[in-house]
Amino acid sequence: MNDGRTWWKEAVVYQIYPRSFHNANDDGIGDLRGISEKVDYLDDLGVDVVWLCPVYDSPLVDGGYDVRDYRAIHDDYGTMADWETLRDDLHARDIRLIMDMVTNHTSDEHEWFRKSRRKAGKYRDYYWWVDGDPDRPPNNWESFFGGPAWSYDERREAWYLHLFDEKQPDLNWRNPDVRESLFEMVRWWIEKDCDGFRFDVINLISKPPDLPDGDPDSTQRGKEQFINGPRVHEYVRELHDRVLDDYDVVTVGETSDVTIDEALRFHEDGLDMVFSFQHLHIDKGDRGPWDFDEWTLDELRDATARWQRGLEDGAWNSIFLGNHDQPRLVSRFGDDEEYRAESAKMLATYLFTLRGTPFVYQGDEIGMTNPTFRRLDEYRDEATIQKVMLALQTGDVSTFDKIRDAVDFWSRDNARTPMQWSDDENAGFTDGEPWIKVNENFPEVNVEREQGDEDSVLNYYRRLVVLRHSTPVLVYGRYVQLLEDHPEIYAYLRTLNDESERLLVVLNFFDGEPTFRLPDDVTDDRSEKLVGNYGDRAGDSIAEIDLRPYEALVYRLE
Ligand code: NOJ
Repeated sequence: MNDGRTWWKEAVVYQIYPRSFHNANDDGIGDLRGISEKVDYLDDLGVDVVWLCPVYDSPLVDGGYDVRDYRAIHDDYGTMADWETLRDDLHARDIRLIMDMVTNHTSDEHEWFRKSRRKAGKYRDYYWWVDGDPDRPPNNWESFFGGPAWSYDERREAWYLHLFDEKQPDLNWRNPDVRESLFEMVRWWIEKDCDGFRFDVINLISKPPDLPDGDPDSTQRGKEQFINGPRVHEYVRELHDRVLDDYDVVTVGETSDVTIDEALRFHEDGLDMVFSFQHLHIDKGDRGPWDFDEWTLDELRDATARWQRGLEDGAWNSIFLGNHDQPRLVSRFGDDEEYRAESAKMLATYLFTLRGTPFVYQGDEIGMTNPTFRRLDEYRDEATIQKVMLALQTGDVSTFDKIRDAVDFWSRDNARTPMQWSDDENAGFTDGEPWIKVNENFPEVNVEREQGDEDSVLNYYRRLVVLRHSTPVLVYGRYVQLLEDHPEIYAYLRTLNDESERLLVVLNFFDGEPTFRLPDDVTDDRSEKLVGNYGDRAGDSIAEIDLRPYEALVYRLE
């Protein structure tokens, strides 16, 4: 770890969900060779790091976050030789490769669990087993996918814990042998020349050993017990000291419900960055998983600014608005119809001008939107399906129709439809039958079309990548809030070297036409526009700017 200039602070990360990226062998499922066929596209976009979602051998009940064998590639995605080719293809273009590392749980088909179930040797306590009445789970904890976090195993005649699907038993990190096995495996991947990891749900790995009941009124019972549990920092530090510290790898921890204080501690433990989700909670209601609340710019600005300031000294932010678990950012925070391109570019400007490492989720660089799912059988995501089934079974809702729109908005499948490469059949993703439906708007929204249009969202992303690479103040500059409470305009400065370098960022977050007024205490003798999503703005005066819908502007102030 290094608090000065560091490659991963200057990097732009591109996240790939392999099942939906590109399919080389026509079986309808994205694969590693398919990604290799697109490395020139990534190179052209200018990204520095690819984060690959899981490609390990797996029964795939949770998109591969249920690992059966950490050291093997799932047949759907190809072979280990294909992974090595992809790694080399990326490295040849100076793009690093980071793997998604799932260490909170495995699949129940993993060898460790199969042995643990039989109480075989040292594997006996690799998971959270509790003996007891088969009709009474050990406590009231609920899984992230809905329903109890415990299942009874007839074979071992005991309960086991699973914070996600019942086929994803939680590993028992209290057991030093478990940690040893995981550390060995992480080292094995580094030795295979991968450049870092995104650690899945890393702040769930420690649970209080007496397994106390959770608050019965909580939205997810038990979460105050297992999120940031008692020994989580000790474990992360051990992972760092015993493995990561020996290498120049980048690490980002996925941490739900993490506070700034916790994030600072994770940083001290040795994680380079964490994903905080506070800014993505602003539109979540508290009446169940499908509840939606209108968000306000105040909420987004507060959450963003809090983290910008909170991690100012030493620690480092990851900047993102979407991933494979979230709705498409343009459908959520922009306008996916009339102003699709403008708002996609405005949101991209947000991602690239804050202090931290930007993470771009595949397809966002062409402004992909949420598709429309009409029937339950169109969904592929087990978490979506399970939560709907549970709501129907418990009578929380009487018919699927009643929650159809909400499910359609929140489902994780929104981000998992195939990458739209062209207006060919299946958006050029596959010549086979796609494993999940293709968004119907692919004839208008696709890479090929965007490549041919100077003003496209894709070309705007490219310009932002170049700008970020060539503008140290964008990477290392301090974040200075302007217009603390404007309801439509989000504006800030980035400043470096005692303010001798200053950038002004102005983002109109809605479709109105507000006027931006530069605060009196910000001097602007001269300004130069660096980037904007309406090409034609002329003149240098930034004292007062009449903004257009979703307009984004970045100026250098002198
Ligand atoms: C977070 C991953 O992003 C999500 O897709 C997965 O379902 C859970 N962790 C469980 O591994």
